[in-house]
Amino acid sequence: MNAIIKYFVVIAIVFVYGSDATTTLLNTNSFPPNFTFGVATAAYQIEGAWDEDGKGESIWDRFTHEYPHRISDASTADIACNSYHKYKEDVQLIKALGVDYYRFSISWTRILPTGYLNNINEAGIQYYNNLINELIANGIDPVITIYHWDLPQTLQELGGWPNSELVTHYVNFAKIAFENFGDRVKTWITFNEPKQICKLGYGDGSLAPGYKSSGIGDYRCVYTILKSHAEAYHLYHNQFNTDKQGKVGFTMDNFWYEPGSTSRADEAAVERVFEFYLGIFANPIYGTGDFPQIVKDTVGNRSLLQGFETSRLPTFTTEEVARIKGTADFFGLNFYTAVKIGNNEADLSTVSWDSDAGILYWWDPSWPSAASYWLKVVPYGIRKALKKIKDTYGDHPIIITENGYSDHGELDDYDRVNYYLTYLSSILEAIYEDDVKVVGYTAWSLLDNFEWVHGYVSRFGIHAVDFNDPNRPRTPKLSAKIFSEIVSNRTLRSTTVQAPDYANMNAPSGIMLVVLIALVNLLSRI
Ligand code: NOJ
Repeated sequence: MNAIIKYFVVIAIVFVYGSDATTTLLNTNSFPPNFTFGVATAAYQIEGAWDEDGKGESIWDRFTHEYPHRISDASTADIACNSYHKYKEDVQLIKALGVDYYRFSISWTRILPTGYLNNINEAGIQYYNNLINELIANGIDPVITIYHWDLPQTLQELGGWPNSELVTHYVNFAKIAFENFGDRVKTWITFNEPKQICKLGYGDGSLAPGYKSSGIGDYRCVYTILKSHAEAYHLYHNQFNTDKQGKVGFTMDNFWYEPGSTSRADEAAVERVFEFYLGIFANPIYGTGDFPQIVKDTVGNRSLLQGFETSRLPTFTTEEVARIKGTADFFGLNFYTAVKIGNNEADLSTVSWDSDAGILYWWDPSWPSAASYWLKVVPYGIRKALKKIKDTYGDHPIIITENGYSDHGELDDYDRVNYYLTYLSSILEAIYEDDVKVVGYTAWSLLDNFEWVHGYVSRFGIHAVDFNDPNRPRTPKLSAKIFSEIVSNRTLRSTTVQAPDYANMNAPSGIMLVVLIALVNLLSRI
């Protein structure tokens, strides 16, 4: 027996005996024929080149440079994955995965360095043209997110998203994107995770630009974003979608909300959180055109009781409601985890989004955790959330525009692999058991990248990036291999994968291993 065979037999034995055999059965249905797979990134998180070739300053450039202590490892994305220079290599990684599309965002200040139309940066437009052309030449559809959190600092000087003048500036930017890339890009996402933009950027101040105006500024931000989205949607369909092939959607983040107890109060809190966190965006676009009634009533009443002259929640005019209603061709959903929700007695002394919602949240300690404190592995949550969305807003095509798992950058990322497998299995159940129209799935992320205030501490990539090496080399992780297997088979393997667990090999297995190795040695003499 030659040495190579012997080597593989030993490896196989280690795998069999070095593990305890607990795996989970997965759904064995195939993904439907038109179901597509992709991977995602965002400009600020991967591009680097923060001030090259004419790019202007964004709120994230300012935030990371001015407040390094607010980033876990005091890092910036000045270089990040250096994808501005390495995009061709990235495209080859995407091609090797065999996915249908690549979801990336365009940096506003790379295209409009001042945020205004007075300076259109041809080098920025050229960069995205090069990326788009490279993708298409390699058989990958480009999917553009127009806004993924990197507002021009100049527009922040006007007050940022709470100022509804930003509608005009956003639409000007979107128009440039449609004009320059619309001949080749057919799927557009106007905004990524508006709740995080508003609630964390202008509410509790934990994300850039770091303003604390919860219950006031954050709601004004919601109002501006919904109007901006609707105007961009109409602009695209009226002026650019001449071949009728194009689609525009809106991507919201949503957790699966589970009642903290069986009390009626906690169950009602779950209903409220759904409306305050998702409905506040989804109801205007996919429902009635307006904010959910419970959100309008609660914020309106509390505002008056607190002595405000009018509701802290802006009011849409009848024309605005008509303009916003129905402005999406698909429902973009970023989904990661579940959370427990409890009722929080109304406290009028606090003005904030969460005290309006009247909720508290926490995570069940039995849920396994990823490296991000908020990311618990709860695969059934995605099926339940998908069904709830369908039951509430109707049968829209849903694209899962992000789903992924954070660790500390391991190459043998078994936990990430099993996260993908179990969540995808749950998505298949939503499709086949609950008849939810899920049409696409996007893994977050193609690369380890700058995870906002968590810097490079928690990593979501299916490819590792060595941030200590100036060349930023990329290395596929086990998850890249398994993800590409899923994409090409269009079905999952029958069970989750088992990580070898050398440390916990029990004595009989260890003895068995020695006996088997002796056997292999014996065989090798034959
Ligand atoms: C949501 C955001 O869209 C993305 O930028 C972020 O990195 C991932 N989730 C993981 O937190």
